[in-house]
Amino acid sequence: MVALVVVVLAMNMLDMGQGMDASEAEEYRAAVEARIRPFGQVYMPGEETEPSRPIVETAIEPEPVATAMSGPQVYNTACLACHGAGIGGAPIFGDAAAWAPRIAKGIEALNDHALNGFTDVGYMPPKGGRVDLSDPEILDAVAYMVAEVQ
Ligand code: HEC
Repeated sequence: MVALVVVVLAMNMLDMGQGMDASEAEEYRAAVEARIRPFGQVYMPGEETEPSRPIVETAIEPEPVATAMSGPQVYNTACLACHGAGIGGAPIFGDAAAWAPRIAKGIEALNDHALNGFTDVGYMPPKGGRVDLSDPEILDAVAYMVAEVQ
């Protein structure tokens, strides 16, 4: 009895797919092809893409608008590394005694040294090494550092 059921089931399964008419078979084939289609496809230059999937032009990134940093922002990003802890003899931010003899040279001299570099007891690189920053940004940072000890 069990064997008979198995045989009948097997016959039913064999029968599946054979009763399809031409349009059903075509649909079935298309569905299978869609399922087993490779995930990505490679196109060589000049080859057409599938019309259903045109190449999408990516939007051009807008140029970032350069905004000037404030004195404290410049100090924190470009000067703090040395002037925060006095690296290499740098006068420490807020240390009035260290800044007094420098301020005595006049703000013009300090500005010039901040922009173009200075060496006496150590080495102050031009613009603290941030030559990408504008002159006014550097001068704002000098003013901020000087104001802190006055
Ligand atoms: C790589 C370390 C370093 C960085 C970064 C740095 N400085 Fe200096 N700075 C020094 C040193 C060292 C001195 C002391 C130089 C000397 O007297 O020989 C100095 C001195 C100065 C002086 C005094 C110059 C003088 O005539 O006495 C000013 C003003 C100054 N720095 C401003 C700045 C500013 C503004 C920045 C950030 C844009 C900055 N520094 C970043 C190391 C640095």
